[in-house]
Amino acid sequence: MKRLPCAFLMLWGLALPACERPGAPGNAPLGLAPPLGLPPVPLPPENPLTQARVELGRTLFMDRRLSHNNTLSCAMCHVPEQGFTSNELGTAIGLEGQSIRRNSPTVYNVAYVEQLFHDGREFSLENQVWGPLLAGNEMANPSIGYVIEKIKVLPEYTGRFESAFGGRGPDVLTVGQALAAYQRTLVSGNSRFDRWHYGKEQNALTAEEQAGFRLFAGKAGCSACHSIGGKFALFSDNGFHNTGIGYAKSMGQPGRHRVQLAPGVFAEVEDKALESFEPPQPDVGRYEVTLDPADTWAYRTPGLRNVALTSPYMHDGSFATLEAVVEFYDRGGIDNPQKSPHLRPLGLSAEEKAALVSFLKSLTGDNVPRLAAEARTAQPAETPPEKDPASTYRRNP
Ligand code: HEC
Ligand code: HEC
Repeated sequence: MKRLPCAFLMLWGLALPACERPGAPGNAPLGLAPPLGLPPVPLPPENPLTQARVELGRTLFMDRRLSHNNTLSCAMCHVPEQGFTSNELGTAIGLEGQSIRRNSPTVYNVAYVEQLFHDGREFSLENQVWGPLLAGNEMANPSIGYVIEKIKVLPEYTGRFESAFGGRGPDVLTVGQALAAYQRTLVSGNSRFDRWHYGKEQNALTAEEQAGFRLFAGKAGCSACHSIGGKFALFSDNGFHNTGIGYAKSMGQPGRHRVQLAPGVFAEVEDKALESFEPPQPDVGRYEVTLDPADTWAYRTPGLRNVALTSPYMHDGSFATLEAVVEFYDRGGIDNPQKSPHLRPLGLSAEEKAALVSFLKSLTGDNVPRLAAEARTAQPAETPPEKDPASTYRRNP
């Protein structure tokens, strides 16, 4: 075997005795060899992947002190053990229990997403981080400068930005670059499907899963949007489509919520009954970005890798199970003037629906336990700063 750089091997979990951490400068550019089924990871030249940046980003991702009141980390909505999403929440909950109108998407394979967020309003992982850091109902920091001053006073970060970024400390660019570098390493492929389809391992999928794949790519028409290529499959066209879910919600078609009253005790409640707690938050999808009426209620096609781990589903988390998603497509989505022409009633039999679900469950990457465990190794101490970082600027304390 060709000798690979130490840092490269560590990134892929092959700890070698010669690769002792920490202390190693870790600034050699890392290669990120794509697993079976995925293309090369797009890496922006201005933010080369280095071990120092990845590890710094991982610590930031896990750090609750990145929120205004030191309680909420990125990883509490993108939970490593829950497919880097939140399995218990249809729509996310931010600082002090505030509601967010959308579901936390997984950050597995986010390196391949061209336009970020369900409506595609952001273009790079480097810039995306300021969305949650500043949103009043997410991490709720008062300003960019506030986040930066806070990171400067936290002892865990002393010298780490400077050594990862050639002398540059925490600032609006480097905070984004570190978090982006880490998230780009969350690449997950080599699923049983990949070994069967691309690796030609005939027994990697059961007969039922193989039948599910044929439906997915054939009669059920799923791959029209959840693309499968000749050499790799992102399961997304990186495009935006109206399936009718946003329409139904906005037009007040009656919906129901499953509410947990006590551990293990659930009740179905009409959405209307919840309005006094939670007035509906308008969401017209891609239209909010393009202002083109044709984009109303269109949302980005999510990649489906690791989908067995990332429930609940859709931009509003309205489906708890893959069975429910397949039933929805079997009905042809929800009719509305801008509904995608690709969606029509499918007339699938019970066996066919079960096969589709089984196929979707074969898309789990082989490195999922390792990526989740690695995230936890970066958990910082989380002692809050002694004084509010904003006081640095106070002239008359
Ligand atoms: C309160 C929960 C919450 C927190 C905290 C949070 N996120 Fe998110 N994240 C979300 C939700 C919800 C969305 C989708 C929002 C939308 O589409 O409008 C999202 C979207 C994203 C996306 C886009 C993924 C895609 O497929 O388009 C990335 C990347 C991301 N978050 C990373 C982060 C990082 C990094 C942090 C910490 C700095 C963070 N998130 C903190 C809930 C959260
Ligand atoms: C017209 C394009 C299109 C077609 C065809 C299509 N999908 Fe989707 N799919 C989407 C979009 C867009 C979303 C996200 C919708 C939203 O967020 O509200 C989605 C969401 C999903 C999700 C939820 C993923 C998640 O992480 O939330 C699953 C599972 C899924 N589709 C499976 C399928 C299956 C199975 C088929 C075939 C029966 C199919 N899709 C056909 C565009 C499509």
